Amino acid sequence: MTKKILILPGDGIGPEIVAEAVKLLDCLRADFGLAVETETALVGGAAYDDCGLPLPESTLDLAKSADAVLLGAVGGPKWEPLEIALRPEKGLLGLRAGLGLFANLRPAILYPQLAEASTLKPEVVAGLDIMIVRELTGGIYFGQPRGVETLASGERRGINTLVYTESEIERICRVAFDTAMRRNRRLCSVDKANVLECTELWREVAIRVGRDYPEVELSHMYVDNAAMQLVRAPKQFDVMVTTNMFGDILSDAAAMLTGSIGMLPSASLNAENQGMYEPIHGSAPDIAGQGVANPLATILSVAMMLRYSLSAPEHADRIEQAVSKVLNQGLRTGDIAAPGTTAVGTAAMGDAVLEAI
Ligand code: NAI
Ligand code: MG
Repeated sequence: MTKKILILPGDGIGPEIVAEAVKLLDCLRADFGLAVETETALVGGAAYDDCGLPLPESTLDLAKSADAVLLGAVGGPKWEPLEIALRPEKGLLGLRAGLGLFANLRPAILYPQLAEASTLKPEVVAGLDIMIVRELTGGIYFGQPRGVETLASGERRGINTLVYTESEIERICRVAFDTAMRRNRRLCSVDKANVLECTELWREVAIRVGRDYPEVELSHMYVDNAAMQLVRAPKQFDVMVTTNMFGDILSDAAAMLTGSIGMLPSASLNAENQGMYEPIHGSAPDIAGQGVANPLATILSVAMMLRYSLSAPEHADRIEQAVSKVLNQGLRTGDIAAPGTTAVGTAAMGDAVLEAI
């Protein structure tokens, strides 16, 4: 059956990097029998400029009816005077909420060819390959009550609430255990169960779900220690699962162990394995329109899409191998080039991946 992909280039470098990913999808369709059809729509600053909204109803409807969404990036100083509700980034949050994307998968992989990009010692990070599974639609970012209130004394008080139901914890843990089964069958659940009751429940549910996955070795770690261990000895981890806020922080830290923001993809999934796939970096307004952005994070996001939402792991392997091959050939965009070496542009990098495939 032909699967539907919605392409949302966004703004900033989004359209440039997404164009390379679309070339790749076209090639897989034409030459390797991948059964997909694509449609393109506006989101973020591009949508705001067109109709005054970062997420038009028509875009959300198309996203809901697609099997997967590929997103470039959104945001930038051009739209920063706007109120928060109209900013490009609100388009992303609207897609996450509208599609119920509760599971965020963030790999942190250090390509051996880019070992010098990390700020950590080579022996600490060589071969690093971690997957962080972050809960994305609950926790303290969404809990009620929230806000800033003024007390009788006149002093103001800021409030946010950490809240998770058992079923919210259970479904994210299942995604994490399934991910661990596809990898090396080791899962570390990160919480703060010594201080926060909500994450005491998290730990209890993780253990309960783990009974359905006897092959997976489950461990637990407090988040402060996890932050320390990620920097001290990151290779001890394989798959990590954690709450929305802890995951936000730990996944950024893990990503930076690899030193290359232009290389890292991400997936956000809902209960039906419908997903939104995007590079972890932003719209890079400083280099937008120059044709120098690294398209590999977006290309690797397509690989994740093929693996997680389109049941086409053989095509995902094909892409990942092609990316390794171009890195072996020494091709580098500016963000991953060693100082003093020559960098190629966005389209040249995309073409090299096509060629390798
Ligand atoms: P950023 O990720 O856009 O850029 C940080 C630095 O990395 C910049 O120097 C940029 O040139 C570089 N960079 C990023 N992606 C690159 C690529 N593919 N190739 C080469 N270099 C790359 O983060 P920043 O500057 O904090 O945010 C810029 C805008 O993007 C803001 O409006 C922010 O809100 C938005 N943003 C959007 C995200 C999304 O669409 N998912 C995620 C993060 C930020
Ligand atoms: Mg973040």
